[in-house]
Amino acid sequence: MRSTVVRQLVEVHGADPRPESPGRRLLVLDPDEVGAILHSKNFRRTDFVRQLSGSGLLATDGTFWRERRRIVQPSFPVREPEAHLESIEWAMPGFVKRLGRAADEDRAICLLDEMMRVISRIVYRAVFGVELGPDEDRVSTFQPMMEAVGAVHWSLVAPGGKIDAGAISRLEQTRALADEEIAWILERRRSVDVGVDDALGRLLAAQADGQIDEKGIHDEVRSLVLAATETSANSLVWCLLLLDDHPEIAESIDAELKAGLGDAAIDAAIWETLRLYPPVWANERQAIENTVQGERTWELGDRAVISAYRLHRDPKYWNEPDLFKPERFAASPDGRWQPPHRFSYMPFGAGPHLCIGRNLALLEMRRIIREILSGFRLEFEAPIEIEPILGIVMRPSSPVTVRIRRPGADATA
Ligand code: HEM
Repeated sequence: MRSTVVRQLVEVHGADPRPESPGRRLLVLDPDEVGAILHSKNFRRTDFVRQLSGSGLLATDGTFWRERRRIVQPSFPVREPEAHLESIEWAMPGFVKRLGRAADEDRAICLLDEMMRVISRIVYRAVFGVELGPDEDRVSTFQPMMEAVGAVHWSLVAPGGKIDAGAISRLEQTRALADEEIAWILERRRSVDVGVDDALGRLLAAQADGQIDEKGIHDEVRSLVLAATETSANSLVWCLLLLDDHPEIAESIDAELKAGLGDAAIDAAIWETLRLYPPVWANERQAIENTVQGERTWELGDRAVISAYRLHRDPKYWNEPDLFKPERFAASPDGRWQPPHRFSYMPFGAGPHLCIGRNLALLEMRRIIREILSGFRLEFEAPIEIEPILGIVMRPSSPVTVRIRRPGADATA
């Protein structure tokens, strides 16, 4: 089932997307070169990404970006991996209730929709200080924009791809719809007094101090929704699909959970999923001056296409790279897992733009997988022919539908 995915992706990232000057787009596959570019002052994020998603943290660079990151960073404390646990725990009872209801009604559900719903409840509360009910579905108002951003992104990265004007105008229209939802979030947040500890609270406090204006707040909320929802939700879907394909691994996780041995096995499955299906499968940086980097000369305006997908499956660094083997992520005797090369594994990026929300993402994914595996059994509706859509994140092209069973319940009951 997953072999088609692998073939397609190798095709996409098998060659330089645009080898001719001017405006070359060149693939970077050497981890040393990747690390050097991501840390270099001579490479910046591309203007185009900013045009797509607005001037939020996800798309900006330089002094402007540094100032914004300084405002938001304290709400994602690096050394407190469990900083957002309370919001995650808050979302769990409603999530479990919804799964239980689907089980009792023997109703097939779209796995991605369900994951988007629980992830967005966590993100709205942990990042924006806004509480949604378990059945409330607001994040879908961002969906058309995410798809439009994805279509443009894809057209740029695919070999021979061209930007099409229709896709750009679709993007502008869908952004207007997303902005209505952002206005709703801001109105809701301003009507409650929940302090300033979360990201939106810090941004609003910075607005009161004159450091950011209303448009800036909109850009940051849009950027955070783009960064925080589809990434984690799709990773969960891939992880559950992979576990369904590898029942022996699901069973060993279950055994560890029952024995109260902690979450190491779940974490390894998540890391391995992020290796095989990195949501941010391609990333770009643009040379802002002529630069010699190792054996390559970059001209001003050249773009480096960094393919996490290819790096994560490079046989030079990964044994049997296309296989799902969570045991690769078992800690070494000193208790730490080390990648085969510092830049051969980077689902959350590297360098100054390292994902600000990685602790939250890992914690929520762990908690959701634990809740599903310990309370339910998923029965995937056959046949599952999954192709990837390479949009803004790598996601299954067709809806993955499942029936939820309680442990021990007869599938035909
Ligand atoms: C599985 C989940 C996630 C993955 C795989 C992921 C991946 C990434 C990657 C690869 C980058 C680097 C982009 C670059 O270098 O240009 C990034 C940046 C970012 N991520 Fe995440 N992310 C995830 C979840 C989250 C969450 C939950 C949040 C927030 C709540 C978040 C917020 C951000 C922000 C704001 C940036 C921009 C950081 C900066 O440039 O200062 N991400 N993410």
